[in-house]
Amino acid sequence: MKQLFLIGFMGSGKTTVARHLSKTLNMNYIDIDNLIEEMNYNISDIFKEEGEDAFRSYETDALKLTRQAPIISTGGGIVERSENIHFMKNNGIIIYLRTSLDIIKTRLANDKSRPLWKEGSQTDVLFSIRVKMYEACADYTIDCDNRSVEELVQEIIDICRYKGILEGEE
Ligand code: S3P
Repeated sequence: MKQLFLIGFMGSGKTTVARHLSKTLNMNYIDIDNLIEEMNYNISDIFKEEGEDAFRSYETDALKLTRQAPIISTGGGIVERSENIHFMKNNGIIIYLRTSLDIIKTRLANDKSRPLWKEGSQTDVLFSIRVKMYEACADYTIDCDNRSVEELVQEIIDICRYKGILEGEE
């Protein structure tokens, strides 16, 4: 089964889009961050107690457990390990939800749940590094600024139809 992987920076709407896609298509989705928390414990605590490297290993382990689900929303750092990119490339298509940093800053203004999200220059640097990584591995890029979830979902469904994936999976 070919899978659909949604990638993008923190706050770009990956989980929301996956949930809507799942509902519209009546297909399962897995959110990698949720799966990590189900298998381990709270992401902030993993970062605090075991560090980012340990989190990245949990993330890779979780990604490998998603083969039964057609729709996958990833964490913003999934592209940090090349083996994750290979896994996604080998098992389906990668769609990058491109969202501007201004919009992300507004959305995450009060967010305390993401250890790598801190207002300031480091966030800007991380964003520009990550954008290049997303662009390098994505099969398709969807512009998300000022568009409704319904519009994004429709665009993704059109891509999937064109590519012949997510059809008759369930
Ligand atoms: C991370 C993004 C988060 C989560 C973790 C690390 C990152 O997921 O996996 O806090 O490295 O960008 P979201 O992109 O869903 O916020």
